[in-house]
Amino acid sequence: MQFLRNAWYIVAWEDEISPDTLFPRTILSEPILFYRTPSGEIVALSDRCPHRFAPLHLGRLVGDMVQCGYHGLCFGPAGDCVKSPHGDGKIPHGAKVRRYPTVRRHKAVWMWAGDPDGADPNAIPDYSFLTEAHPNSMFTGYLPTACNYQLATDNIMDLTHADYIHVGSLDTRGAIARTKAQVREEGASVHCDWWLPGSHVIGVFKPNFPGGDIVDQWFEVSWTPPALMLLRAGATLPGRPREEGVNVSAVHLMTPETETTTHYFFGSVRYYQEDNAVLNQHIRAAVVAAFSTQDKPMLEAQQQSLGTTDLLSLRPVALLGDVGGFRVRHALQRLLETESQESARNTRGEFGFSGRV
Ligand code: FES
Ligand SMILES: [Fe+2]
Repeated sequence: MQFLRNAWYIVAWEDEISPDTLFPRTILSEPILFYRTPSGEIVALSDRCPHRFAPLHLGRLVGDMVQCGYHGLCFGPAGDCVKSPHGDGKIPHGAKVRRYPTVRRHKAVWMWAGDPDGADPNAIPDYSFLTEAHPNSMFTGYLPTACNYQLATDNIMDLTHADYIHVGSLDTRGAIARTKAQVREEGASVHCDWWLPGSHVIGVFKPNFPGGDIVDQWFEVSWTPPALMLLRAGATLPGRPREEGVNVSAVHLMTPETETTTHYFFGSVRYYQEDNAVLNQHIRAAVVAAFSTQDKPMLEAQQQSLGTTDLLSLRPVALLGDVGGFRVRHALQRLLETESQESARNTRGEFGFSGRV
């Protein structure tokens, strides 16, 4: 499977990569080693020593270098072998590993998977609401899921699934499936908005409306390549302005681990009762339960059902809620084709990679 290379991928929440730790994670089917230097910079290196291809994460950190645990070669943050304990200490020819640009942003670590010259951190969507939120109004999480990342993207772009999978938790009573979403493309992004006037209030908003269960609600998803989604949802009393209601903003960020497994990062900020730590814990537990016991098992079973067959090649039946997901798949396909053509034109090497690591 071809993955989009010239893109930023979220690879970890910042607190997953603690100081003095070698943190391995497979990204786009490539084993990568992450670690922090003493100055706090996060380094991403190919997790295969070029000597006998031992995983570098089985070695140890020495200052800002990682020392291979097998025969002791040391690699610096740029990926070059900077120290050899063998013979006269001469650095062996070709002793380097690929390094990947990284940046810390929005509580997360992001990795650029393509030509380092194109790694502009400003291309990462603005999720600064995660860092600006009251600590008792936000949470983040990570859920490894054994499905292709595009199935996980479809799941967020098509919220009609909530009417069925989350029937006991969100209590949407079929309202999303009955509603035609407004889908539009802006630049590289795809937006999918549902507007549900006079609908039954969903579970997480319900305590805010003690006077009745009927509200006007909205769910708005914005996709940015490769698989980054922002979901805004809210509810207000019927006919009243949105500003009078309650709302949440959430990220659903998918990074391919392999063709059939996905690193699913989620984060949510609540814009009501923002200092209520107990409510925050309660909502986090409910969200994690829904993702891990409802979405994840269905996505994994869907992957099992598909096997290695591409979903679109099976000519799937299309429903009203699929429009956003199809637009995303087509937008991604266009980007992949462009990248593939550029790569073919580029005589410098694989992925337009200049040879620097
Ligand atoms: S495998 Fe790393 S130094 Fe030998
Ligand atoms: Fe879901």
